[in-house]
Amino acid sequence: MTSKISLKKKPKKTARINNGNATNNLIFSAYQGSNNAIFPCVLELYVAENCRIADVTYGKGIFWKNIDISKYEFFPSDLRTDGLPEDCRGGIDCRELPYQDEFFDVIVFDPPYMHTPGGTAHNGHQNYEEYYANNVEQNQHVIKTIWEETNGNPPKYHEAVLDLYYRTGKEAWRVLKENGIFIVKCQDEVCANRQRLTHIEITIELEKYGFITEDLFVVMRTNKPGISRLKNRQQHARKNHSYFMVYRKPKGKSNLIASQDLPLFKKF
Ligand SMILES: C[S@@+](CC[C@H](N)C(=O)[O-])C[C@H]1O[C@@H](n2cnc3c(N)ncnc32)[C@H](O)[C@@H]1O
Repeated sequence: MTSKISLKKKPKKTARINNGNATNNLIFSAYQGSNNAIFPCVLELYVAENCRIADVTYGKGIFWKNIDISKYEFFPSDLRTDGLPEDCRGGIDCRELPYQDEFFDVIVFDPPYMHTPGGTAHNGHQNYEEYYANNVEQNQHVIKTIWEETNGNPPKYHEAVLDLYYRTGKEAWRVLKENGIFIVKCQDEVCANRQRLTHIEITIELEKYGFITEDLFVVMRTNKPGISRLKNRQQHARKNHSYFMVYRKPKGKSNLIASQDLPLFKKF
């Protein structure tokens, strides 16, 4: 008798599901199109109806153009106070949200993700603060905190962009419930001739806070971005894509980041 006969079949680790249908009608990880065309795919996979959602950089609300927001309990806000849609609460800094701990199922965050869109080195950086309303009357407390924490040397350029992501990441952690979803829009950039893969930098940092990375969606522009001053030869591939990143605050880790002493939530 050969030893083959006495060999036992290895038990299967997982039960096989034989009754599913083959389909390619799926949500994919990369699309060419606009944010408002692709954002609904992110919601479809990760956000259930009746969820309580805060979009903390609502802007003009373009993301929500193709969404029936009546399906959710929705809290749009932005630091700006002018030019916002009526339903959006202005003067709210995403680094210091006026909500109680563990209040939301979902936080949506789409900050300014470049200090010099289309420019070289740090040209135009002087416009950054003003353009993105990052130093306005409403958020002097946050600005002061950053000033103090950095001994009067607040981060600049790409580090300023990252700092906004990181601080908001901590706030998102605080206000999200267990299993809450943090949807982050970002774009990589070349800063001072150095390739900065923002989506990786953010992911490494958010995972330190305890977030689990759930997904990455690539959004590719439909038009061709140009640059205003091409000197000599092109150094890096011009970015024509950005990302929706999806993170989850896992169960059982609520106290990983100490909660701040913030005012209790007030309904807008
Ligand atoms: C790229 S736009 C967001 C566009 C938005 N997702 C939409 O669909 O229209 C960035 C927004 O972030 C806001 N912003 C910048 N810094 C902020 C901060 N510290 N807190 C809250 N909002 C901020 C800006 O006022 C701007 O409306």
